[in-house]
Amino acid sequence: MMNNKNNLSFFTVSFRTLKNNIMLSEKIEQLLQDQVKKEASSSQTYLAMACWADVKGFSGAAQFLYTHSDEERVHMLKLIKFLNERGSQATIPALDSPRKEFDNLKEVFQSILDHEILVTESINNIITVCLEEKDHLTNNFIQWYIAEQMEEEQLARSIIDKLEMIGSDTSSLYLFDRELATANQGA
Ligand SMILES: [Fe+2]
Ligand SMILES: [Fe+2]
Repeated sequence: MMNNKNNLSFFTVSFRTLKNNIMLSEKIEQLLQDQVKKEASSSQTYLAMACWADVKGFSGAAQFLYTHSDEERVHMLKLIKFLNERGSQATIPALDSPRKEFDNLKEVFQSILDHEILVTESINNIITVCLEEKDHLTNNFIQWYIAEQMEEEQLARSIIDKLEMIGSDTSSLYLFDRELATANQGA
């Protein structure tokens, strides 16, 4: 009986130690929670852009933006699940209504690029704090986001370059819009 008690307390202590090891620091928990909001905001922002493109007749760009919005929601969900698995409980944030009017397609993609650059800075900051706090688990998890950011920035830049080349040539713009429908497949 005595032995069983000792065994039980050993397992309790071991479990506590294990649980403490996987729990997030308050600072990293807050940064990840802020990132949930940023990804949610990206998803809503791109959804509003998709609506603009849809009603302006840019059906290819609309398809691109609807897909992009879905991808940002997946980014948010991955963070939410990570927070829940690491001893926290994710908070679902309230969001402001995103911008819904744009002058042209180039302005839409310039806004995307500007937004993605801010998101990349935010991810970089999370990595810096993970290194400072030696949180290798979160660092490993967040590396996927950095690779994703590089792809998204590169794609937005290449689309802006093409839109600059096209300028006011409406027939080229029509053809490029059709190309955009599948531009983020596999991204
Ligand atoms: Fe994202
Ligand atoms: Fe993004």
